[in-house]
Amino acid sequence: MHLGLIGYGNITRALLDVLAREGKMPSRLTLLVRPGQAETARRIGVEVVTDAAALIAARPDLLVECAGHSAVAGTVVPALRAGIECVIVSIGALADAALHDSMIAAARAGQTRIVLPAGAIGGIDLLAALRPSGISRVVYCSRKPPLAWRGTPAEALLDLPGLTAPAVCFTGTAREAALAYPKNANVAATLALAGLGFEATEVQMIADPDISQNIHEYRVTAGAADYTIRIEGKPSPDNPKTSLATVYSVAREVMNRMREVAI
Ligand SMILES: NC(=O)c1ccc[n+]([C@@H]2O[C@H](COP(=O)([O-])OP(=O)(O)OC[C@H]3O[C@@H](n4cnc5c(N)ncnc54)[C@H](O)[C@@H]3O)[C@@H](O)[C@H]2O)c1
Repeated sequence: MHLGLIGYGNITRALLDVLAREGKMPSRLTLLVRPGQAETARRIGVEVVTDAAALIAARPDLLVECAGHSAVAGTVVPALRAGIECVIVSIGALADAALHDSMIAAARAGQTRIVLPAGAIGGIDLLAALRPSGISRVVYCSRKPPLAWRGTPAEALLDLPGLTAPAVCFTGTAREAALAYPKNANVAATLALAGLGFEATEVQMIADPDISQNIHEYRVTAGAADYTIRIEGKPSPDNPKTSLATVYSVAREVMNRMREVAI
C-alpha cells in the first residue's frame, strides 16, 4: 500500500510508531510537511514533499490528513478531486459549511470517499447506524484538566490555574463549539456529522481540576436504542490536547486496509 500523510506532528509521529510496532508499515510512504520540517522528516527515510501538487502527483492509495484546518482546505480538497481517498483527522474543519460542501463536491468529482475516523471517541458506528431509526437527542460533555483549555476562550472566562472545582466554560451547539473552540471541536463535529448535525447536537465543555485525562461523555436518544458512552482518554505525551486514542483510531483505518478482515 502507498500511504500519503499530511503533517509531521504529534499524530503522524505516533501513528508511524504504531504501524511499525504492528508490522504494518506501508510499502511506500509519502509525507507532506511544512518546508521547515522537511529536513527532520527526511531523516526517517520516507519520501518527503512540501507542496500539495507533489503529494497528489505521487498518487497515494490512501491519504491521511493529520495536520489541521488549512491542510483540509488546501490539500484534501484537490486530492479528493484527483480521486484519492482521504481520511480526515481535523474533523472540526467540517463545521465550516462552505468547506464541507466543497469537499463533498470534490469527492463526487473524483469518484472517491472522505473517511471520518472515530478519533478520540467511540460508538460512532452505532450513532451513524441509528440515524435512519430517528435520533431525537445527542448531548456531549467534554471534560479536560484546566490547563488543557489554555489558549481558548475559557482563559478569559475562568481562572484556569486557580480552579478548585469543575467549571463550565461552554454550553451551546456543535456549530458554536467548533467556531469558539476550533482546536477542541473535533469530537463535537464527529458526533454532529454522524448524528443530528451541527445545529441540533448539544455540547458542554468543562474545566475540571480533579482529573488528569480528557473525559468524553455523550448520551444518545434514538428510535432503535438509547445509550451513554464515557471515554477516559489518556492525553498524548507530546500534545495534551490530543487524546492518544485518536492515534490508534487512525492506525485502525490504515491497518484495516491491509488486513483480510476489516473491523
Ligand atoms: N478527530 C479527533 O478526535 C482529533 C483528536 C485530536 C486531534 N485532532 C486534530 O488532528 C490534527 C493534528 O493533531 P496533532 O496533535 O498531530 O497536531 P500537531 O500540532 O502536533 O501536528 C500538526 C502538524 O501538521 C503541520 N501542518 C499544519 N498544517 C499543515 C499543512 N497545511 N501542510 C503540511 N503540514 C501542516 C504542523 O506544522 C504540525 O507539524 C489537529 O488539527 C487536531 O485538531 C483530531
